[in-house]
Amino acid sequence: MQPVNIAEFEPLARERLPADTFDYVSGGAGDEVTLRENRAAFQRIKLRPRTLVDVAKVSTSTKVLGHGLTMPVLLAPAAFQRMVHPDAEIATVRAAARAGVVMIASTFTSASMEEIAEAGGTRWFQLYCSRDRGLTQSLIQRAKEAGYTALCITVDVPRVGRREKDIRNHAAVPGEAMPRNFKDRLNLSAVPDAQQGSAIEKFVSDYLVESLTWRDIDWICSITDLPVLIKGILTDEDARLAPDYGAAGVVVSNHGGRQLDGAPATIDVLEEVVEAVAGRAEVLLDSGVRRGTDVVKALALGARGVLIGRPYLWGLAAAGEAGVATVLDLLKAELELALALLGCTSVREVTKERVRR
Ligand code: FNR
Ligand code: LAC
Repeated sequence: MQPVNIAEFEPLARERLPADTFDYVSGGAGDEVTLRENRAAFQRIKLRPRTLVDVAKVSTSTKVLGHGLTMPVLLAPAAFQRMVHPDAEIATVRAAARAGVVMIASTFTSASMEEIAEAGGTRWFQLYCSRDRGLTQSLIQRAKEAGYTALCITVDVPRVGRREKDIRNHAAVPGEAMPRNFKDRLNLSAVPDAQQGSAIEKFVSDYLVESLTWRDIDWICSITDLPVLIKGILTDEDARLAPDYGAAGVVVSNHGGRQLDGAPATIDVLEEVVEAVAGRAEVLLDSGVRRGTDVVKALALGARGVLIGRPYLWGLAAAGEAGVATVLDLLKAELELALALLGCTSVREVTKERVRR
């Protein structure tokens, strides 16, 4: 079957992947209420198209943190991609570079950040802060040296969410997919199969510092000249603080429903975040974006752009680099059509009047 939209890559990934890997990628936390709500909330929002606008020429291009992109879509950081396909993040970054979008490389990539950098393209580095401050500092320095142009600090994982599929499956990471950024610091053998619970959860918890606070954001901004984004903001209180502590951007995210079940859909809190940030930082959004019309809804409510996570991982599982490329092509075509049908010739024209209150 040739997918006609990006959600149709999910059943293909299910066919290709071992069941526990598919569950790790597609699953969410708890009762998966937030996971479902991410889709439902987008579907509740209705658009207000204008007619008799000349849409013979429509452009999807935009700028995010000063980078020219072919569309306001970025590839969200996702860990352990060699579990999904042998070409792992190398396939992902190549597809992103060819499509002219940003790839955000996870801290836990199966290829090292230097290997990923060789593929070129615009890359940002997603930072998970380690218990070992020296290790965190060295990751930041290496990202700068390897040509990553922004740091995206993920702040919604002080602990890993309760992902019951992973617990049941004793989800583990095979040796070849283990993070390669820590060559000298971590033992690269597979996360040992857990007798109880999720081995992925154990690996991530052993690495992460639970005591991260805004003071650490201050510290990171003081040791790097890379622009910093804070990923995982869901309230106006935190949105107000982010630029105070030096952030150039925030990503409104509930981690794709993988962390706090019961957290709101991101599209429902976007406006309050945009108001609180008040133009002092750029606002991006992820979690549940599957359609070109979802992208325009996010733009209308004040986002500069969106990140997609699972859809490109499903594409990677189905067909490696070509699969990721097809996901990006389909989304771009949908976005362009959505703009035309809305009566907009550019992403700049997608203002809040384009959604119905
Ligand atoms: C993620 N996500 C994630 N986020 C992050 O900051 N660092 C990471 O290493 C990962 N790893 C990861 C693995 C997998 C398998 C998934 C599905 C997700 C979260 C990701 O960046 C993003 O926030 C969500 O995936 C967005 O939701 P959708 O597009 O998947 O609905
Ligand atoms: C996840 C972590 C690694 O969502 O971010 O699986």
